[in-house]
Amino acid sequence: MSRKAVLLSARMATMSEGDTPYGLCQDAAIAVDGAKIVWVGEHQDLPPEYTDWPVEDFGERLITPALIDAHTHVVFGGNRAAEFEMRLNGASYEDIARAGGGILSTVNATRSASAKTLLADALTRVDALIAEGVSTLEVKSGYGLDSVTELKMLRVARRIGETRPIRVKTSFLGAHAVPPDYAECPDDYIRDVCIPTLRVAYVEGLVDAVDGFCEGIAFNPAQIALVFDVAQELGLPVKLHAEQLSNLGGAQLAASYGALSADHIEYLDAGGVSAMAKAGTTAVLLPGAFYTLRETQVPPVDLLRQHHVPMALATDCNPGSSPLTSLLLTMNMGCTLFRLTPEEALAGTTRNAARALGIKDAGSIAPGQRADLAIWNVTHPAELAYRVGFNPLHKRLFGGIE
Ligand code: NIG
Ligand code: FE
Repeated sequence: MSRKAVLLSARMATMSEGDTPYGLCQDAAIAVDGAKIVWVGEHQDLPPEYTDWPVEDFGERLITPALIDAHTHVVFGGNRAAEFEMRLNGASYEDIARAGGGILSTVNATRSASAKTLLADALTRVDALIAEGVSTLEVKSGYGLDSVTELKMLRVARRIGETRPIRVKTSFLGAHAVPPDYAECPDDYIRDVCIPTLRVAYVEGLVDAVDGFCEGIAFNPAQIALVFDVAQELGLPVKLHAEQLSNLGGAQLAASYGALSADHIEYLDAGGVSAMAKAGTTAVLLPGAFYTLRETQVPPVDLLRQHHVPMALATDCNPGSSPLTSLLLTMNMGCTLFRLTPEEALAGTTRNAARALGIKDAGSIAPGQRADLAIWNVTHPAELAYRVGFNPLHKRLFGGIE
């Protein structure tokens, strides 16, 4: 596509906030100048200054913002198919974690993998996401749990954004699990490994946000607070794996730090929802983990709606609880398993996913936004969440470029 262009199509879902479902617009035109959108509206209203720009006509297709996967662990070594078999034979996710498997098994595989192998393996997953129209990806550390490997993971995450046409936002997840050497003294791990590594990673420019896992098999709220205090001191936003398997009040803690998001939240209660609403914290729902772990407790979607807490949907792509590399299937799962509407599902992978990452220039189609767009072989946006295992992407534009 040339650097200045007018895109035409029969339908566009701008996903801008407002009264029109999906921000739907018929006979749409989008003027793109370089990486940015400069005008959006009905073709008949296109201002004269754009009428002699080159036109790309997508005919009957639908244009939406490109998709955003706001919670992934795509950088990791090995896989955990053996644990999948163990769970099918009756072991629970927590049993496996307490026996030294789970996250710690991926920690061993990630420590022993080279950066080159980690990148090559991650790219196979990233390419699957890009093929479905993803233009922005959050990537966490958290399978190192030592300084060398946490930094290795974050550098690999940055390389993804240099190697592929995709924007990467990194989250430091040093507080993901207690490494075996610190099993008896997790506070020492936080003080002597996690926090010093965060400081080094920050100085190297490797950290866009700070995450943690607040859970019985991971860290308690007081330990997470120690990490968040440092994030705050460094001016980094926080987010938290909270209320996934039980309720430790993690979402309230995260909200008290003005968190960008609280993620999973199956066991979130009314107090947690209202704390998130007050803090403007986005709920990131992860139906892939719910599905894989055969969880039965559904996140409090109605309460989140009542309190106007924005909901995002993400793959949580990781080797244990969510070996999922399809954001379209995630949208379908969000509807089928959590009863989101297809419009909420698309908002969850566009506008609200951007919010969960603190991104202001993507996630909707409007003047000033990046020209990160997805063009689909569908006629109505509900079709994106409706189909199972089908990819109708025609084309993806990343900053106006194919
Ligand atoms: O988001 N909940 C904690 N962390 C990941 C799982 C990581 C793993 O099992 O390897 C999650 O589900
Ligand atoms: Fe996760």
